[in-house]
Amino acid sequence: MSLKDLAKVELHLHLEGAAPPAFIRGLAREKHIDLSGMFDADGGYKFSDFWQFLKVYEAATETLKTPMDYHRLTLAVLEESAASGVIYSETFLSPDFCGNRDLGAWREYLQAIQEAAEIAQKTHGITLRGIITCIRHFGPEKARQTALCAAETAGDFITGFGIAGDEKIGKPKDFRWAFDAAREAGLRLTAHAGEWGGPDSVRDALHDLEVERIGHGVRAIEDLALVDELAEKGIVLEVCPGSNIALGLYPNWRAHPISTLLQRGVKVTISTDDPPFFHTTMAREYDRLHDAFDWDAGQFRAIARTSLDAAFCDADTRARIRKQLEAADA
Ligand code: ADE
Ligand code: ZN
Repeated sequence: MSLKDLAKVELHLHLEGAAPPAFIRGLAREKHIDLSGMFDADGGYKFSDFWQFLKVYEAATETLKTPMDYHRLTLAVLEESAASGVIYSETFLSPDFCGNRDLGAWREYLQAIQEAAEIAQKTHGITLRGIITCIRHFGPEKARQTALCAAETAGDFITGFGIAGDEKIGKPKDFRWAFDAAREAGLRLTAHAGEWGGPDSVRDALHDLEVERIGHGVRAIEDLALVDELAEKGIVLEVCPGSNIALGLYPNWRAHPISTLLQRGVKVTISTDDPPFFHTTMAREYDRLHDAFDWDAGQFRAIARTSLDAAFCDADTRARIRKQLEAADA
């Protein structure tokens, strides 16, 4: 069987970061927005390091200006995920880009995204849930406003809260108010850490924000006491190997720590982060991991179950997706 056909659960995907470059170029053309310099000769996004990546990412969001743009984006992204075998996706949504953190505007964007998700569920059999994310380099005050948007719209669809952006700016504890507000609203918590920061950054996210999942977290491998702590506490890592390699964190797939983390008992999951930026898909991540570590279908099925157990959805949704996973495995 092809790994592409395996049923997959993805926990770490940025909606804007999943926008195909041709989709963004199309919007730019419609709106007469000049994005020259943003694309390479093959039409892909052009950047040479993480910080340039963030700039290009934010420039691309300049074309996404209405709820209808997000409706179209959500449909395009879910179609692509479903083509890779993804049956459940948790996607980071950013009120920063959807109406500048104004709650009324955010509700309109959210409604458009949810309507697209319902269409994708019917046409492609993929289920979407949203994790609202604040952006670290935008600062704690904007994160507070984002957290209020999250708290006001928490429910069956918005199930989590997180933080992305430049890990080298500020400290997790600066965002404590936002995370406390989200937790009090019933949202589950995750934070990007251990990507551009080392083990201490992961420790700070765990201890100061009390998150149950870590986005990336791979640099925990530089401190085995921390790896043991992650394993003992059952903290789930949303690992995005293709993203780490494309951004130069590791030189190649064999050098990526995902296999060692797994062997040491850490709950690892597999995601794509911002797939068109990194020339990846969930199917490609599976193929490269198979090539690098000789993982078989059984290993990937076990990781999909770990991912579903760690998903922020309600119990009924989890049970429904579990049945789909079991049917696909049969
Ligand atoms: N936002 C989108 N992708 C990201 C990444 N890999 N790290 C931090 N913030 C991000
Ligand atoms: Zn990410």
